[in-house]
Amino acid sequence: MSRGEVARLRERARERLPAHVFEYVRATADGSDEAEAARWDEVRFRPVSLRGALEVDTRTTVLGTRIAHPVMVAPMAQQVAAHLDGEVETARAAAASGTLLGVSTNTAIPFARIAEQGAPWWFQTYVLPERDLTYVLAERAAAAGASAILLTVELTALRVPPHVEPTSWPDGPARARLVNLTPEERARVAGRPAIGPGLEEIARLRDATGLPVVVKGVLRGDDARRAVDAGAAGIVVSTHGHRRLAGSIAAVDALAEVVEAVAGEAEVYADSGIREARHVLAALALGARAIFVGRPAWWALAAGGGDGVRALLDGMTGDLRLALAQAGVGTASDALAARLAVPPS
Ligand code: FNR
Repeated sequence: MSRGEVARLRERARERLPAHVFEYVRATADGSDEAEAARWDEVRFRPVSLRGALEVDTRTTVLGTRIAHPVMVAPMAQQVAAHLDGEVETARAAAASGTLLGVSTNTAIPFARIAEQGAPWWFQTYVLPERDLTYVLAERAAAAGASAILLTVELTALRVPPHVEPTSWPDGPARARLVNLTPEERARVAGRPAIGPGLEEIARLRDATGLPVVVKGVLRGDDARRAVDAGAAGIVVSTHGHRRLAGSIAAVDALAEVVEAVAGEAEVYADSGIREARHVLAALALGARAIFVGRPAWWALAAGGGDGVRALLDGMTGDLRLALAQAGVGTASDALAARLAVPPS
């Protein structure tokens, strides 16, 4: 699936959605939703030649879970505003495509309905203002079949006009969030922001759930190192789709530094601005084990439901196979070993 086709998905989503919903999804910290993708564009490749017949293989594992390809779906709130069945459709697409999805704290779909679709999934959590409920929710996700916890460490300071903020949307399914808490539990956290987590949350969540913890939103080698030393099994290099901080570096700018700091002791993944197979190839070649797509999947869900998301995932993977072959590397580990990619300067 080309960059142009992803842009067309976005435009189809724009036609189908109320303007405030579309604007919320597109919003970034400094208004530019192209900045991250433009930075991935600047990665340069050194294609490998004279390797004979190449066998291209996109299969990999993430924390021991087998996936058919490294294009995973990012945890995103408000999916029921894209499609009434939200993550049920997204999970159906992930299962059909052979990949994994992240499920947001704020999902409006019960965990069991997502799990039923048969795709592996990781539960994304924020630290809730009632700290104990953070662990209650994560334990419920683990019991429903989540295979890792994604602990998001950035709190987005996304500034959007009041009408674009989901809490002000007219009554609709997107407001029925945190459905995996009871109504009483929900009332305790309603309207209160999440807390910025400290390092100790990694071990707490791991001990509460018995699951590996992946820290999402790291943009520095020193933070990645501290997280791994505190027990993180994985790191997602992410700017939250450029929603965290105006003027932030892009995810791709931090990737090589994080990979080096982690030194193979944890898996590294990347997201933010990944819009086409060449960006996936860049991430893999710089040491990411797999990547997440965010908005393209949300737009595909709005434009075509689960079938739309599947077409996106399969399309990006088909293009990735071609890109690997053209680059003269059969697999992600070949690309890394061959030092295929030159990061942007
Ligand atoms: C997000 N993201 C996100 N991340 C997270 O940890 N918990 C969440 O609930 C959400 N919700 C959410 C909603 C919407 C509408 C968007 C666009 C994003 C961030 C997401 O997981 C991922 O990091 C980015 O979307 C990746 O960037 P791209 O692919 O959207 O550019």
